[in-house]
Amino acid sequence: MRLYLIGAGVIARTHAEAAAKLPEPAEIRVADPSPAALAAFSEKFPDAVRFPDAAAMLGAEEAREDDIVIVATPPFAHLEPVKLAFRSGRHVLCEKPLAMNDNEAAEMLRAAEQAGRKLGCCSVRFKGMAHMEAVKKAVDSGVLGEIYHVGFVHKSARSRAGIEYQPASRWFLDSSKSGGGILIDWGPYDFATLIDVLQPAEIKFNAAWLRQPETEADPRDVVFDVETHAGAFLTFRGAGGPVHVNYERASCAHGEEYARAEIEGTSGAVRWSPFDSRQPVYIRYDKDGQIVEERVETGPPGPLTVMDNPLHHFYRELHGGSAYANVDARAVDHFRCLSAFYACAESGREVTVAIAPAKEESK
Ligand SMILES: NC(=O)c1ccc[n+]([C@@H]2O[C@H](COP(=O)([O-])OP(=O)(O)OC[C@H]3O[C@@H](n4cnc5c(N)ncnc54)[C@H](O)[C@@H]3O)[C@@H](O)[C@H]2O)c1
Repeated sequence: MRLYLIGAGVIARTHAEAAAKLPEPAEIRVADPSPAALAAFSEKFPDAVRFPDAAAMLGAEEAREDDIVIVATPPFAHLEPVKLAFRSGRHVLCEKPLAMNDNEAAEMLRAAEQAGRKLGCCSVRFKGMAHMEAVKKAVDSGVLGEIYHVGFVHKSARSRAGIEYQPASRWFLDSSKSGGGILIDWGPYDFATLIDVLQPAEIKFNAAWLRQPETEADPRDVVFDVETHAGAFLTFRGAGGPVHVNYERASCAHGEEYARAEIEGTSGAVRWSPFDSRQPVYIRYDKDGQIVEERVETGPPGPLTVMDNPLHHFYRELHGGSAYANVDARAVDHFRCLSAFYACAESGREVTVAIAPAKEESK
């Protein structure tokens, strides 16, 4: 198969590494207007064919049914390459966040439908990991009783993209380029995870807030207008009763750092670290009026890393196998959760998002 990378930066290199683990050889083509980015990419992947722009790359040869284009540019430069790739007749896997706003996301979906090709989003990165599947199994088993509450908190004191993490990519700090801060950066994974586990038909954003705690390392020479701490109170509605979710995410906060997800039901609770598969999963329940805590056997980790998952899930989706891929309407729904979060925080009003049903095989 042929893999076309638009953007040759940090994440493009991880996709190229993932391509080497596909069940068939992948020929790589890569386009980036930055000669430095292309040169750095070529150093690691000397066989990749380089292009100075995406149009030249996609127009250089006829599309084939199994071609995949990955859009690996900053968010402000997702829409045009996605549309260009669909016009060239190819399937598109776009980095997260899918778009800058709901209109762009809807435009991408229309372009996919017109081209008769699939639109995938890399927000699936953490789906399908052994510990996540163990949590889903616990939820499906009924051992938790009626699920009514989820605490989902991931607070880091100093890990701001564009400052402490990947400081060369200052675009992360400017909302006109990134679309937002910690929520737009990590929210795609958080909502993909919560939706995968709770399978809601709709999510209501009851209240939400966004802040940017100050530090002495805050850059003064570039635009820095994105939130680095966000929280919300949500209600997930699906087949069972309402599930109330307390959500918090920080790349900068002065409070204690911790990461924890816990689902509470009337008969038990399950707790895990969503983004760290090395951490154990625990189930707690009552026996004779006392709490019993058991560690859940999660099995060995699979052969793929979280960085491999987006391409591999999308590849399987195109080849008819079971997949966790977030594609088409589902990819757009996931993005709309982020927009709803921002709209709720900015307006102070409730916002509800409908969620397309999951495919059977990824339940
Ligand atoms: N860096 C990470 O750890 C990471 C992880 C997951 C997802 N992502 C996502 O991947 C995307 C890219 O992030 P990154 O960290 O690789 O950024 P980066 O700054 O390392 O690289 C982006 C590259 O895109 C190129 N580019 C800009 N406009 C272009 C265009 N129109 N055509 C072709 N190339 C263009 C730039 O020259 C640059 O080389 C973002 O959406 C980000 O959220 C990044």
